[in-house]
Amino acid sequence: MNVGILGTGHYLPTKIVTNKDLEKIVDTNDEWIRTRTGIEERRLAEDDIDTSDMAYHAALGALEEAAIDVDDIDLILVATVTADTPFPSVACMVQERLGAMNAAAMDIGAACAGFMYGIITAKQFVETKAYKNVLVIGADKLSKIINWEDRSTCVLLGDGAGAAVVGEVGEGKGILSFELGANGSGGKDLYQDENNQLVMNGREVYKFAVRQMPESTVNVINQLGYSKEDVDYLVPHQANIRIMDAARERLGISPDKMAATIRKYGNNSAASIPMALSESVKEGKIKDNDLIVLVGFGGGLTWGAVAMRW
Ligand code: ACO
Repeated sequence: MNVGILGTGHYLPTKIVTNKDLEKIVDTNDEWIRTRTGIEERRLAEDDIDTSDMAYHAALGALEEAAIDVDDIDLILVATVTADTPFPSVACMVQERLGAMNAAAMDIGAACAGFMYGIITAKQFVETKAYKNVLVIGADKLSKIINWEDRSTCVLLGDGAGAAVVGEVGEGKGILSFELGANGSGGKDLYQDENNQLVMNGREVYKFAVRQMPESTVNVINQLGYSKEDVDYLVPHQANIRIMDAARERLGISPDKMAATIRKYGNNSAASIPMALSESVKEGKIKDNDLIVLVGFGGGLTWGAVAMRW
C-alpha cells in the first residue's frame, strides 16, 4: 500500500514582530539577526490564542484540502512542546473541537522533529490497515517559553501550526523512505528549564544540525537508489537559513527549490515543516509527481527525514 499526504493546512497568527521591534526589547540588531539566521520577522500569537487553537485551524485547512469528513479521522497526532496543559493533550482538545469522535488522540514529543515522528507513526497505522486517515499536526506557541532576556534565543522563535492528513495514495506516490533518530546525550544542549523557559547552547545545536540535516537528506535518497539530482523540492526544518542551505547545497539544488519560510516566520518548532509544506503546496511550488524531501531536527536531540513522491 502507498501511504502519503492527502491534504495540508496551516495557521499563522496575525501579529507580526520585526527584527526592529526586537531591538527595543533586547540588545540586538536587524543586521545580526538577518545575517546569522535569515530571519526578518516572526508571528506571535495573541494571549487568547493557545497551541490547541492554532492546531485546530491548521487541521480545518488540511481536512478541507484532503476532502475528508471529520467522522473519517481515525487518529489525531499532535507534535508539540508547548501544549496548553500537560493533560488533556492538544490532540484531545482538537478532537473535541472538530467533533472527530471516531478518532483516537495523543500528543507526540520530539520537539522540532515532532512532525517527522508524527507522519512516520501515522504511516505505520495506515500501512497495517489499522486506520485509514490520520490527522497529523505540528503546533507550537513558543512565545510561551521564550526567555525575553536571552537575545541568543528570543530572536529565533515564532508561533504557528501546520497539519496534514495521512492516508492511502495512488501507485508510486507517497512516502518512499524515511529515517528517524535520537541522541539523548545532546539533551543538555536544548531544553526547557525549571522556569519553563527555552535554553539552548546555540553553537552545539548548530554543529549537530549542520551535519545531521544534510546527512539525513542524503540517506533517504540513497535508500531508494536515487541520486540527489532526482530531488525536486526540499522542505527543511526552519531553524537557521545557514543550516537549511547546508542541506540544500548537499543536494545541489537552487534556492527556489527549497521552502524558506524562516524569513517571515522564524523557527516554529514542530510547526515549521508542516507550515512550510502547506504554504509551498498553496503557492504551487510542489507539483504532481515531484520527489520531495522533508527533513528536521530538534531538542532531544531528535531528527527525521522522509522522501516522498507527491
Ligand atoms: N543579537 C546580537 N548579538 C547576538 C545575539 C543577538 N540576537 N545573539 C547572540 N549574539 C552575540 C553573542 O553574544 C556573541 O557575542 P560574543 O562573541 O561577544 O560572545 C556573538 O553574537 C556570536 O554568538 P554565536 O553564538 O557564536 O553566534 P552564532 O553565529 O553561532 O549564531 C545562532 C547563533 C544563530 C543561535 C546559531 O548558533 C544557531 O543557529 N544555532 C542553532 C540554533 C537552532 O538550530 N536551534 C534549533 C532548535 S530551537 C527550537 O527548535 C525550538
